[in-house]
Amino acid sequence: MKEFENKVAVVTGGSAGIGRATALAFAEKGAKVAIASIQAVEGEETVQLIRETGGEAIFIQTDVTKAVEVENFIDQTIAAFGRLDYAFNNAGVMSKMDFVSSYSEEEWDWLMNVNLKGVWLSMKYEIPQMLKQGRGAIVNNASAAGVVGFMNAAIYTASKHGVVGLTKSAALDCAQQGIRVNTVSPGAIETSMLEEAFRNNSQLRREQLVAMHPIGNTGQPTDIAQAVVWLCSDAAAFVTGHNLVVDGGFTVP
Ligand SMILES: NC(=O)c1ccc[n+]([C@@H]2O[C@H](COP(=O)([O-])OP(=O)(O)OC[C@H]3O[C@@H](n4cnc5c(N)ncnc54)[C@H](O)[C@@H]3O)[C@@H](O)[C@H]2O)c1
Repeated sequence: MKEFENKVAVVTGGSAGIGRATALAFAEKGAKVAIASIQAVEGEETVQLIRETGGEAIFIQTDVTKAVEVENFIDQTIAAFGRLDYAFNNAGVMSKMDFVSSYSEEEWDWLMNVNLKGVWLSMKYEIPQMLKQGRGAIVNNASAAGVVGFMNAAIYTASKHGVVGLTKSAALDCAQQGIRVNTVSPGAIETSMLEEAFRNNSQLRREQLVAMHPIGNTGQPTDIAQAVVWLCSDAAAFVTGHNLVVDGGFTVP
């Protein structure tokens, strides 16, 4: 029997990159997976990839900044699969890189709404179901920029530090209720977000970014997926409120 057989996982932002890799990793362990994203075509593709390997999955188009849509996503998950065991709150965006005082108010609101409010809203609707079951594991996706400052990315950095703090407090609130809440903090991972960062910022050079990772390379989405699956597993039964940094040593110096 697979480790996550008869378990149900939700993944926000599961239509691409780290979220898609993690949805596939949950399914590989035997979990049924519900995927939320604003991207419908790519979300359905993730479902198809899971079905091709014999797994079960559904996609619900969801904007994580909208409470009614997140509530609907969790309701649809329970309706389809009957329970909720694991959550990876991963949907996120990055703005163009800019000097701290140059950003607009709209950019602040957009980044904070997706990256921070979206994680809180996801937990708001996930936790009540986990409380009913008396058990659950949540992983929120922060970033190396949730641990250290990042030049020309003040709002993104603030949003990701927020995710780490939100997670710690949620972990304390839930510690005695059987629900563990942790963060994963990736270094630079090869996804469309990273590609876009290079496209939008002529001063950001790939060689420089790679050199900031003592291990000598950037990461792959599966590097994060494996960490998330471990944090959800019983092997991590005594781990809560932790920020698991998976960054090739980026934040070490
Ligand atoms: N790639 C990296 O180098 C890196 C490093 C550290 C942290 N992260 C974090 O990892 C997470 C995933 O990023 P990725 O690199 O896989 O990027 P990606 O752009 O490939 O994936 C982002 C996902 O979030 C979804 N999304 C965006 N806005 C949404 C919204 N309002 N509602 C629902 N879904 C929404 C997208 O549709 C997509 O599925 C993000 O939170 C990001 O900040 C990425």
